[in-house]
Amino acid sequence: MKIGVVGVGYVGLSTAVCFAMKFPTVAIDLEKARVSALNEGQVPIHEKGLEALLVKGLSSKRLKFSLNPGELIDADAIFIAVGTPGNQDGSIDLSQVRASCKDIGDVLKSSTKRPLVLMRSTVVPGTARRVVKPLLEDGSTKKCGTGFGLCSNPEFLREGQAIQDTLKPSRIILGSFDDFSLRSASSLYRTFYGKKPPPVLATTPEGAELIKYGSNSFLATKITFVNLLARACELFPGTDVNDVARGMGLDPRIGAQFLQAGPGFGGSCLPKDVRAFIKSLRDMGVDGSMLESVLQINEVQPEHVVALAEARSGTLLGKEVAVLGLAFKAETDDLRESRSIALLERLSQRGASIRAYDPVAMEKAKTELDYVVYSSSAKDCIKGADLAIVMTGCRQFKSLKPSDFVRLMRSPVLIDARRIYDPRAYSRGINYVGVGLGERAAL
Ligand code: UDX
Repeated sequence: MKIGVVGVGYVGLSTAVCFAMKFPTVAIDLEKARVSALNEGQVPIHEKGLEALLVKGLSSKRLKFSLNPGELIDADAIFIAVGTPGNQDGSIDLSQVRASCKDIGDVLKSSTKRPLVLMRSTVVPGTARRVVKPLLEDGSTKKCGTGFGLCSNPEFLREGQAIQDTLKPSRIILGSFDDFSLRSASSLYRTFYGKKPPPVLATTPEGAELIKYGSNSFLATKITFVNLLARACELFPGTDVNDVARGMGLDPRIGAQFLQAGPGFGGSCLPKDVRAFIKSLRDMGVDGSMLESVLQINEVQPEHVVALAEARSGTLLGKEVAVLGLAFKAETDDLRESRSIALLERLSQRGASIRAYDPVAMEKAKTELDYVVYSSSAKDCIKGADLAIVMTGCRQFKSLKPSDFVRLMRSPVLIDARRIYDPRAYSRGINYVGVGLGERAAL
């Protein structure tokens, strides 16, 4: 069995290195520098466990990267994992999907096998049927179901856990067009996962596409919901959103995960996918205003963090503000739609003097934000500051002790936008405020 992957972004690369543990795998990309670097074992993204698997795959000779789609000719299964960036109106840009289908169509035309094409890129409901299938059929002059197989096969990888999520996914979704495609995909995954396969759900291609958007929109809704509850908690002395979330999460119908209040959701997926889903619903004549509210509340959450800071510090004009965390979450260098960047913009508009630290995302941030002074460590960042705002839950920030804030800051005002500290311990000698924490009269 030989595997092909088209597109070596986050998803394609994780898929390629994991499948190369078992099968010969070739991964295709347009970007010359990226392909050469990968063939030399250099990873373009920060992802736990990725480099080790890349090096292993290359040295075993099971894995290679190429610019030439022709190398897919003897592949039994081809994953489409190209990007689907968001357009201004929320819709997604399918140009990379179209280009990869054209390349794969050419390959299918000359293939002597009946390869299976798996659509991993996130696309709105109906795209596999309306765009992918016709392009593959026209290009190959073969029929889906007889000449080749095609399944909508969305991924649910989290940044920072992409390898683990590929090797032990919560589920495999197979949205197939026909029996042949479903049988081929089931057999591929059975062979790959061996004795302990993840649960497999078979559905239509549109069902699979909807599962992807449904999952990400639901997760985004859960986060916004808990952030809304956090606002209410802040109005009642001593009330803590973490207790409220825990109390709700004990109900198995609700579940405890994704109920951590904070500065809102960011990253390359949740905001973009919710926008695309709203647009797709609108195009289908369905009212998606519930999800519009989810986005609106998320947009104002960084402003709320600023309001918490102003409530404690007064005007931010000329204040030395230390921001801990730049990426959209801990342990990643991804700045896309980071709530921290949204916060920095607001702080800058208010005339604050900003210094920041992030253990992983600093180099990327330096190329994007020139109005920030970059510190060399978390302690260096808070030294002499009038105000510290914690925007991600990095280990380095969690290990700061209350005495560090008291000793190092000019005036120890601490805004815990991720709720990483114990409010009791961090209120002694510190003007501490946490998202979703009603001020305790006694503290
Ligand atoms: C997400 C989905 O989890 C994943 O299944 C999908 O394939 C891609 O999008 P990712 O973007 O890596 O993964 O981030 P995730 O860990 O889901 O967090 C998204 C955002 O929500 C982050 O900004 C995070 O800080 C925030 N978040 C998450 C909260 O504010 N509270 C929570 O309880 C959980």
